Amino acid sequence: MNNNANVTVVDHPLLQHKLTLMRDKNTSSASFRRLLKEISILLTYEVLRDMPLISKEIETPLQVIKAPILEGKKLAFISILRAGNGLLDGMLELVPSARVGHIGLYRDHDTLEPVEYYYKVPKNLDKRLVVVVDPMLATANSATFAIDKLKKSGAKKILFVSLLCAPEGIEVLTKAHPDIQIFTASIDEKLNELGYIIPGLGDAGDRIYGTK
Ligand code: PRP
Ligand code: URA
Repeated sequence: MNNNANVTVVDHPLLQHKLTLMRDKNTSSASFRRLLKEISILLTYEVLRDMPLISKEIETPLQVIKAPILEGKKLAFISILRAGNGLLDGMLELVPSARVGHIGLYRDHDTLEPVEYYYKVPKNLDKRLVVVVDPMLATANSATFAIDKLKKSGAKKILFVSLLCAPEGIEVLTKAHPDIQIFTASIDEKLNELGYIIPGLGDAGDRIYGTK
């Protein structure tokens, strides 16, 4: 049950089925990557539901009409490296014209604080819908840090898309950034003492890229 107005849990049965396959420790990296890409496409439908449309005059083979079309040049997808790229791939398939930014962060294993190693984002963030993607929201230290930086770069309208969230992470992120809407496939039970999401799926980056 989700009582937080800032969080949308996308519970489409196809998505939930694929998520269960991803959680299974016996799922290979190749399958894990493919499933994450498929899920990201399903998540994106929900995330972009309110995207503004404008009217454009076109000619069908039979008549001239005014028809809805996306406003264009208004979206920026920001991937929190490296696991964010697993979600980004599917989103870019649906919206190939989106601008893309990357924020390189990894969690220090002892402090669970993010360590930054890269930051490159599109210009004019203030005029774009900024969609930040990272499959895991655990302590939310990484997401909070990334969104702090994006706001300093001018971003005003920001959505955060993840695969799994810990309740602790949702609390931290919505306190730090109450203006952010979070989209996820699941709110899991809790964080363990090492900051991993329980039951979770393990280390997303390692599972995507086979680095464990
Ligand atoms: C993972 C994940 C998030 C972060 C979440 O990245 O992709 O960025 O941990 O944890 P938090 O909410 O406690 O900050 P990781 O640091 O393992 O780096 P990686 O993507 O390069 O593997
Ligand atoms: N990062 C991950 O990849 N998995 C977790 O469970 C927590 C943080």
